[in-house]
Amino acid sequence: MAVAGVVIAAGTAGGWAWWQRRRTGEHAGHDMQAMPLAAEAGAFATPLRLPGTDGLFGVLDVSVPLTIVGKTIRHPILPGKPVPLLAYEVEHDGKTFLNPVLRVRSGAALRVKFRNALDEMSIVHWHGLHVDGNNDGHPRYAVRGGVAYDYQFTVANRAGTYWYHPHPHGLTGKQVYLGMAGLFIVEDDEERALQAALDLKFGVTDVPLILQDRRINSSGGFEYEPSREEIEAGLVGESVLVNLTPAPHFNAPHRIVRFRILNGSNARNYRLAFVQGEQLLPYYVIGTDGGLLERAVKVTEAFISAAERLDILLDLRAADMMRPVMLKSLAFDPKHNEGGGGRGAHAGHDMGAMDGAELALLQINIRGRANYDKAVPARLSTLPPASIGTAADRLFKLALDAKRRWTINGLTFEMNRTPITVKRGSREIWILQNAERSMPHPMHIHGFQFRVLSRANGPEQIARTATDGAGRCAAEHGWKDTVLVWPGETVRIALDFSHPFDGDQVYMIHCHNLEHEDQGMMLNFKVT
Ligand code: C2O
Ligand code: CU
Ligand code: CU
Repeated sequence: MAVAGVVIAAGTAGGWAWWQRRRTGEHAGHDMQAMPLAAEAGAFATPLRLPGTDGLFGVLDVSVPLTIVGKTIRHPILPGKPVPLLAYEVEHDGKTFLNPVLRVRSGAALRVKFRNALDEMSIVHWHGLHVDGNNDGHPRYAVRGGVAYDYQFTVANRAGTYWYHPHPHGLTGKQVYLGMAGLFIVEDDEERALQAALDLKFGVTDVPLILQDRRINSSGGFEYEPSREEIEAGLVGESVLVNLTPAPHFNAPHRIVRFRILNGSNARNYRLAFVQGEQLLPYYVIGTDGGLLERAVKVTEAFISAAERLDILLDLRAADMMRPVMLKSLAFDPKHNEGGGGRGAHAGHDMGAMDGAELALLQINIRGRANYDKAVPARLSTLPPASIGTAADRLFKLALDAKRRWTINGLTFEMNRTPITVKRGSREIWILQNAERSMPHPMHIHGFQFRVLSRANGPEQIARTATDGAGRCAAEHGWKDTVLVWPGETVRIALDFSHPFDGDQVYMIHCHNLEHEDQGMMLNFKVT
């Protein structure tokens, strides 16, 4: 007993010292030498990659059965330097798509064959979709190279910006990091009404922004080699790419522009703001993981954790036309393993390689005065009230164990163990409670969208963004599938386990910090 105690204490002390170095920027290593690509304002020379009619992020309206091939490709990240990446490739109508934006109508029936052409296991997960266990991309269905997996499901979700990515256990972080991820956009009448009301055109004035931080190596590509510390904290790179474009600019007309932002990073969180000179421009949060809110919420900043989506409107008519607007992640305290007391915002020595560093993500140049007289609609959609639990509340405690693994209720993932069983059709309140001495965990649930009921004991930087007495942030007035839980914080969410699927269905709850997930911060739950 005493011996074990000593070992644990020593391990903790070592880890603590590393956190301190990390916080104060003393961490000498590759991240000190690598220059953040976006370090210099004005260096945003590359046009943002936008979804076109084919190629990378090409828009594919899904109506017929598709085959999606997971494979290694060569594609440039830095201009003129093709590098190996992993991607989803689709051949359709004589065109080749890479990581296509799959666009479907709510209610559509889908048939997708995933063919794994990698030399390791993989499987596609449709993040946020309300599907049965066989179609969810659970890691137990991962297939080896050369093998295919067939999906067949009806898109039951309302309109929203969903996404798809690999989910083989232990390899998710690597495969996403090396390039595999795409958007899955669902449309319905409410969504079409919004597009009409604001005259939005996808890829032009309705623009997806996939935020991904990477460490770019000397040949201009990515490598996935997290250190022991990076596995524990999550891998954070010093360069943030938007739509796989480093230091991009976007030319926008002088009108309302919609951005559908996906945090596709493995671990990094962002505190998003639009900045012109010293001024923060207000923007409207109109939607989140599970689609539109009822009403737009005006903000000047919002956090977005790994896997979350923020659907926003920016009215550039309120901006000065002569100067660029920067989409930034403002500095924040990453709250890594420091407990609830906090040590104040860490300032001055941001290395870019740390979560919480101030980062410039995208430069928006205002081009031309548009003839545009639209306004943000007063009402966007209709949401049912959040359901109140009919079953007993369930507590999920997030903490580091003695082996320095992140756990949920002291457990880590075992493929064939299902520690949670819920009744089909039941309504439950799940209480996500992070340890005081912890780090932020973006908790994600498969198979069901949920509603955030309250957020308590969070750090000041998140409490400050609350929009109501329950501590909810702007996006938390809508349907969510991922929610960030800060150290010391308790987040209550409401789930309704109604679905039309017979028999037992197995899903998962996990942390979407992909290094945490791959290390087992994930549990099966069964709906029975
Ligand atoms: Cu996007 Cu199980 O995750
Ligand atoms: Cu998911
Ligand atoms: Cu985590």
